[in-house]
Amino acid sequence: MEKYAIAAIPGDGIGNEVVPAAMRILDVVAEIHGGIQWEWTSFPWSCQYYLQHGMMMPSEGIDILRSFDQIFLGAVGMPNLVPDHISLWGLLIRIRRELEQSINLRPARLLKGLRSPLLHPADFDLVVIRENSEGEYTEIGGRMKKGEDEIVVQNAVFTRKATERAMRYAFEQAKKRRNQVTSATKSNGISHSMPFWDEVFREVSTDYPQVTTSSQHIDALTAFLITRPHDLDVIVASNLFGDILTDVGAAIMGSIGIAPAANLNVDRKYPSMFEPVHGSAPDIAGQGIANPLGQIWTGKLMLDFLGYEEMGTLLLEAIEFTLQSGIKTPDLHGKATTEEVTTAIIEYLQKTC
Ligand SMILES: NC(=O)c1ccc[n+]([C@@H]2O[C@H](COP(=O)([O-])OP(=O)(O)OC[C@H]3O[C@@H](n4cnc5c(N)ncnc54)[C@H](O)[C@@H]3O)[C@@H](O)[C@H]2O)c1
Repeated sequence: MEKYAIAAIPGDGIGNEVVPAAMRILDVVAEIHGGIQWEWTSFPWSCQYYLQHGMMMPSEGIDILRSFDQIFLGAVGMPNLVPDHISLWGLLIRIRRELEQSINLRPARLLKGLRSPLLHPADFDLVVIRENSEGEYTEIGGRMKKGEDEIVVQNAVFTRKATERAMRYAFEQAKKRRNQVTSATKSNGISHSMPFWDEVFREVSTDYPQVTTSSQHIDALTAFLITRPHDLDVIVASNLFGDILTDVGAAIMGSIGIAPAANLNVDRKYPSMFEPVHGSAPDIAGQGIANPLGQIWTGKLMLDFLGYEEMGTLLLEAIEFTLQSGIKTPDLHGKATTEEVTTAIIEYLQKTC
C-alpha cells in the first residue's frame, strides 16, 4: 500500500464545494486501485482566515506544506473581503514560488458529451506549459508621483534557467504526445525579454530534432486557439501569456469550470500543487451548483504525476460518461448540482470496476 500525505486547501468560495467532492472521488479511485491510500489534512487558509489572523496562512505555513507529498487546492480570492493582490500573493503565489513549482501544466481537449462554443470544433487535444515562477508576474516595480504626473513601473524578469526549464519540459511532453511544440512569443513588440525567449527556444529545440517547432506571436496564437486548436499539441508560454491562453483553452472546451491545472516541482524535492484553472466564483458560491469537473480532472493530473496514469485515464472516462449522460451543472447548460455530478462519477467508477 502506497500512502500519500495530501494537504487539502479548499480556499475560498466554490473551492469549499468542489474540493470535498473531488476528495471523495479520489478516495473511491484509491479503493478501486487497491494500492493507494490518501492521508488528507485540510487547512482553512483563505480570505476568512486572513480576516481573523491578518495573514492568508500562518508564518510557518510553507514549512508545514513541505512535509506533505502533494497539495490539492481549490481557489483563492474573495475580492469583496480582501484585495486580490493580497490574497493571491499571500497564499497561492507564495506556495508556487517558495515550493519551486516552476511549471504550470494546463491541458485543454474536446471532451465527449460537451458542447464547445466553437461552431464546428475538430477533435483538439493540447497542453499549455506555462513558466510559473517569474516572467511578467513579479513584485519588482513601483509608483511615483500622484495625479496627472503619476508614473508606474512594473518589471518582468526572465532568467535563462527558468526559461530553459519550461522549454525542456515542453519538449519532453511533446515527445510523449504528437512531437510538436509551439512557442508563444511577442518579440515584435517586447524588445528584450521576448527575443531572449525566442533565442532559448531555438537553442533548446536543437536537442529535440524529432520535434516540429514554431513560434507564434501571442495575439495570433490566441486567435489560432479559437480557429484551429486541433493543429496545436504542446504550447510553451511565459507566465502571463500562459495564463491568458489557458482561459481561452477552457472557454473552447465549454466552461472554465472544467479546466484542470498542475503546478509542478519538477525535481520532486518539494510537493507539487494541483488546482483547477478557475477561481472562487463568488457569484455562484454557496448555491451547490459549482462544476466540480475542473477539480476532479485536476485529481487526474495528480494521479498521472504520481505514476497512476491508468487510474487517471479511468477518471477522465468517468467524467466523459457523466457528460454524455447529460448530467451537467448550469455552466454547461445543465441542471445538475455539484452533488449530482459527483455521485454520478462515483457510481460510474463503482459500476465499471
Ligand atoms: N487559482 C486561483 O485560485 C484563482 C484563479 C482565478 C481567479 N481567482 C480569484 O477568484 C476570484 C474570482 O475571480 P473571477 O470571477 O475572475 O474568476 P472565476 O474563475 O472565479 O469565475 C469566472 C466565471 O466563471 C464561473 N465559474 C468559475 N468556476 C466555475 C465552476 N467550477 N463552475 C461553474 N462556474 C464557474 C463563475 O461563476 C464566473 O461567472 C478572484 O478573487 C480571483 O482573483 C483565483
